[in-house]
Amino acid sequence: MAVETSPSITNKILAHYDANARVLPWRSPPGTPAPAPYFVWLSEVMLQQTTVAAVRGYFDLFTRRWPRVEDLAAAEDADVMSAWAGLGYYARARNLLACARRVVADFGGRFPDSEEGLRTLPGIGPYTAAAIAAIAFGRRAVVVDGNVERVMARFHAVETPMPAAKLRLVELTDAITPDLRAGDFAQAMMDLGATICTPRRPACALCPLMDGCAGKGDAERFPVKAPKLAKPRRTGTAWWIERDGQVLLVRRPDKGLLGGMRALPSCAWTEKAAAPPVAGDWRDLGEVSHVFTHFSLTLGVSGVELDAPAALSLDGEWWPIDRLAEAGLPTLFTKAAKAALKGMRSA
Ligand code: ADE
Repeated sequence: MAVETSPSITNKILAHYDANARVLPWRSPPGTPAPAPYFVWLSEVMLQQTTVAAVRGYFDLFTRRWPRVEDLAAAEDADVMSAWAGLGYYARARNLLACARRVVADFGGRFPDSEEGLRTLPGIGPYTAAAIAAIAFGRRAVVVDGNVERVMARFHAVETPMPAAKLRLVELTDAITPDLRAGDFAQAMMDLGATICTPRRPACALCPLMDGCAGKGDAERFPVKAPKLAKPRRTGTAWWIERDGQVLLVRRPDKGLLGGMRALPSCAWTEKAAAPPVAGDWRDLGEVSHVFTHFSLTLGVSGVELDAPAALSLDGEWWPIDRLAEAGLPTLFTKAAKAALKGMRSA
């Protein structure tokens, strides 16, 4: 199928960006020198599956605490995992550290400046490599995230459902990606998708591409989605073990979900009623739910207050309950801790 390559589309997108670019802490204004590759990389990893609003504060915190890739590479694993707490998809934080250390050890602290070189680094897949190559190094790279897919699917009224349409959407984006200003172009497309060509109630009247858009009038129908499969539901139990104003926290194994994060002890998330790790007067404190990428989880919360040191069947650290906010618990366990505190404090 022929692909629209009209430079006028590209120019309209860039002109719209010149006048309307969002001001974001990891960006340079349109047409000005690129930001430091470290900032571009950090922001792109944080923005994977995560909104700009959620990332802003974390980006500020990370760049203040670790202003250069060398600083991050030298950080303690536990400090980085705690600082990441709440952002989700924790494999990203482990890869972030591995990547920073590799850039320092193997590349003298300088990120490779090509897509190919970037893709050899931990946590950098095709999208992130293209985004960094374009934004930090001005390379012509075809950058396609969910926002860009939506803009292109609508502009061309692509009827093929996702994800089968992905390759076609890359071809369509390739055809309008300029040789120069590829970084501005990529971010212009992201902004268009985030602010005008939004998933619901797009503001077509404000769109610089309205004239040629085949999807306008019926824009919300695109990208066409394949019917959703219901997520499997899993269950488990989290244990709140309290003694002398402290609660027992464990560190989850490095491999697997929420790997390397501090957590409440819990059974495998396939069993509802596992034996608790210590004998005592256990109370049922309710349940919390959380949706992960591939399944939904309902975690029952049980609590016990011990009045003397007891033989425990697990390793952990006793953490002051009044300083729990500093433990860097991921969202699931923050919810469980809240339920536990409420339950334990009620009669
Ligand atoms: N999402 C992913 N990368 C982005 C960027 N550089 N600007 C805005 N949103 C983004």
